[in-house]
Amino acid sequence: MRILGIESSCDETGVAVFDDEKGLVGHVLHTQIAMHAEYGGVVPELASRDHIKRVVPLVREVLAQSETSMHDLCAVAYTAGPGLIGALLVGATEARALAYALNIPAVPVHHMEGHLLAPMLEDPAPTFPFVALLISGGHTMLIKVEKPGSYELLGQSVDDAAGEAFDKTAKLLGIPYPGGPGLEKLAQTGNSKAYHFPRPMLDRPNCDFSFAGLKTAVLNAVHASTDLEKQKADIARCFTDAVADTLRHKCERALNLTGLNTLVVAGGVSANTAIRSLLSELMESRGGKAFFARREFCTDNGAMIALAGMMRFKAGQIGTLGVDVFPRWPL
Ligand code: KG4
Ligand code: ZN
Repeated sequence: MRILGIESSCDETGVAVFDDEKGLVGHVLHTQIAMHAEYGGVVPELASRDHIKRVVPLVREVLAQSETSMHDLCAVAYTAGPGLIGALLVGATEARALAYALNIPAVPVHHMEGHLLAPMLEDPAPTFPFVALLISGGHTMLIKVEKPGSYELLGQSVDDAAGEAFDKTAKLLGIPYPGGPGLEKLAQTGNSKAYHFPRPMLDRPNCDFSFAGLKTAVLNAVHASTDLEKQKADIARCFTDAVADTLRHKCERALNLTGLNTLVVAGGVSANTAIRSLLSELMESRGGKAFFARREFCTDNGAMIALAGMMRFKAGQIGTLGVDVFPRWPL
């Protein structure tokens, strides 16, 4: 059985084909990063218009790439939320129309469930149950995952998401949108002892996060800086260390709380090498294992939606005949 997956919740149009025996057989992606860069962030109307231009050619391309006939498809999965409403509607309409024409189901997928399951596209794949750390541009969550669809929220950010903190810090340091990858590069030459930024909420006995205070500390360091050009690599490095350290502590707490020893880390920020290393070390020291998606599947993509869609399809969780989208949708 083959399923087509379409992602269009923000600034990436991603389309993929997943085969329940062979795994991922094709994936293509168009990123709008260059288009939004001159505005310093995603412009929703421009995002929707670009998805409209890209989605049909990308569907054609991925079907050809994976040597899949439309008639081989068992269903079409799409990101139904959360995300930008206009952007979501493009993927949803394409998926719903294709499904209707082919007389197969459309499967609405939660974007964060897609991220959460993305490390299962790798070999070796994590096995259930596990603790998942989801760190993206809009969410920071720790989740106990018993099996697909069984998610218990252990903690989340009470203010900024980890990715948002990266993007805002990057902006303060003059790094173009999206800041995460640029900040990572800059941090590589920074001195980790130059600043000590706060590790917020470590004293609280829960799994919640807060990154707003860290952002303020960075802002103060930028204002106090006498030569920002010279000091910005140090700020980037110490900021990254503070985020990574906070994530490590909260993951440790979630693992102790649940008694689990498998950690799955997903979402755009999980592409960060320093964060990957620290969390891998944590799991090694506990005799457990950390799992990540390959870097291109940490950020938004169609492959994770096709995979999550296949799991939902097999569980009989298919959509209605409506074009269902949910801009705000809890996991
Ligand atoms: O998961 P994602 O692609 O989109 C959302 O669902 O939000 O995550 C995007 C976020 C952005 O904030 C971006 O700056 C961050 O992930 N990001 C990174 C890196 N690559 C992307 N943050 C830190 N280091 C990176 N290498
Ligand atoms: Zn995402």
